[in-house]
Amino acid sequence: MSAFTVTGQRVWQYLAAGLKRITTDEQIDMNNKIWTKLMDDVLRIMSRFALAGLLAAALVAPANAGDSEKAKRIHDRLAGVPPTAIVLQEMEDALAGTNPECSNFTLSGIDNGAECAAYIAMKNKDFYNVTLKNFAATWTNRDQSVFVPLNDYIATVIGMVRDDEPFNELLSRDITYVGRPGVVSTAPSGSNNDHYQQLEDNNVNLRDELQFSLQSQVNNLPANATAGVLTSRAASESFFVAGTNRAMFRFTMLNHFCNDMEQLHDPALTPDRIRQDVSRSPGGDSRLFLNNCIGCHTGMDPMTQAFAYYNYDENTGALQYTDGVVQAKYFNNDLNFPQGYRTPDDHWDNYWRSGQNAYLGFDNALPGSGDGAKSLGAELGNSDAFAVCQVKKVFKAVCLRDPDIGDLVDAGDSNAVSRITNTFKTTGYRLKQVFADTAVHCMGQ
Ligand code: HEC
Repeated sequence: MSAFTVTGQRVWQYLAAGLKRITTDEQIDMNNKIWTKLMDDVLRIMSRFALAGLLAAALVAPANAGDSEKAKRIHDRLAGVPPTAIVLQEMEDALAGTNPECSNFTLSGIDNGAECAAYIAMKNKDFYNVTLKNFAATWTNRDQSVFVPLNDYIATVIGMVRDDEPFNELLSRDITYVGRPGVVSTAPSGSNNDHYQQLEDNNVNLRDELQFSLQSQVNNLPANATAGVLTSRAASESFFVAGTNRAMFRFTMLNHFCNDMEQLHDPALTPDRIRQDVSRSPGGDSRLFLNNCIGCHTGMDPMTQAFAYYNYDENTGALQYTDGVVQAKYFNNDLNFPQGYRTPDDHWDNYWRSGQNAYLGFDNALPGSGDGAKSLGAELGNSDAFAVCQVKKVFKAVCLRDPDIGDLVDAGDSNAVSRITNTFKTTGYRLKQVFADTAVHCMGQ
C-alpha cells in the first residue's frame, strides 16, 4: 500500500467517524450559534448574487462563455471582487491551456487549467486583505466574530499562506508576520495591537507589505516557548486571560479541529490528571462527575498542562511566560477536590491517542507527550483532524457552504475533501493549494 492510500484511508476514517458522532442532542445548545452563522451565510450569498447579476447584465457575449463564467466565479470566490479585463483574459487562457505562466505553479493534476486560473486569482491583493483576513479573524476571539481589527494571529495566517509556509506548523513554530519597517509609524509590540491597527486603518496592502519575523523577538519569549499562533498576542489576550488556560485548548479544538468539546467527549479514559478544581461530586452527585465532567476533563486537562507557564497579563497587555514556574491559575479552587491532580510542571500527555478519539489521527511518528506548548502544537498540527479541518474551513469560505459530508452525503464533496486533504498533507501543507483546489471543485456550482 502506498503512503497515499494510507493517508486516504485515515482521512476517510476520520470523516466517517466524525459523521457517526454528530447527534442532534449534542447540537442543541449550539443551535443559536449555528442559526446566527446561517443568517450570515444567507446574507453573504445574497450579496454575491446581487453582484453576479450586475456583472452578467454588463456582459457582452464573450468568445467562450463557459470559461469566462468559470474564471469570473473562481475569481469572485477567492478574491471577493470581479477580475479586471486583463486578469480575466489570463485566467481564460489558463483554462484553455495556453497560459505559459501556469508552469510557475505547483499544480495537482486534477484540472490544471482551472487550478492555474485559481492561482492567478489569488494574486489579487483582496485575497490577502479581505478573504484571508476574514478567514482567520474568527479564530482569534471568543465570540468568533469576524469584526475584529487585524492582529498578529491573523497576520501570521496571511503571511504563511502567501509564502507557502507549511501550515501544519501553525501551532508550533517561532513565527509571526509584521509590516515592513516604515510602512506604519508604530513598531510591532508584544504588549499592544497598535502596529496592526495602523496597518488596517491605513489599508496597507498586506500581500506586499507583510514580512516574516521571529515571534520570540516581538513577544519577548524564549524561542522554545513559542508555539505559532497559540502564543500570538491576540490568542493570548483572548484565551490565556484569567480562567484556567483550558480556554486555549477548547478554542484550538473549535478552530483547528472543527470540533467543540461536546463532540470530543470520552468518559472511558483514566481520569488521573483531572485538576483539583473539578468537583468529583458536583451538586453532591458523583454520577454526574463519572458520566459528564470526566468526558471532557480527562483528555483536556493533561493537554492543557502544556500551557502551565503562560498567562495573559492584563496590566501589561502582554503574554507572560514563567519558565519552570506553574501559573497560580492552575491552583484555582484547589480545595474543591484536594486529592485531584496538582500541576507540577508543563508536561502534557495526549490521552486521545487511544479510545474513541483515536479517529482524530494523531501522527504515529510523534511520541504523544512532551513538555510545553510547542510540542503540543506539533502534536495537534500534524493530526488528520487538523488537516481536514483546514480543508473544511476553506471549503466554507470558498464554496459559501459546508461540504456535504453530514446527513445527506454528497459523494462529490466527500471525495473532494478527502482528495484535497491528501494533497495538502503530501505536498508541504500549502494552504493556497487548498484554496485553489476547492475553488475548482465549486466553480461549476
Ligand atoms: C463539554 C466539555 C466539558 C464538560 C462535560 C465539563 N467541562 Fe468543565 N470545562 C470545560 C472547558 C472547555 C472549560 C474551560 C472554560 C473556559 O475557561 O472557557 C472548563 C472549565 C471548568 C472549570 C474551571 C472554571 C473556571 O474557573 O474557569 C471547572 C471547575 C470545571 N470545568 C468543572 C467541571 C465539572 C464539575 C463538570 C461536570 C459537572 C464539568 N466541568 C464538565 C469543558 C467541560
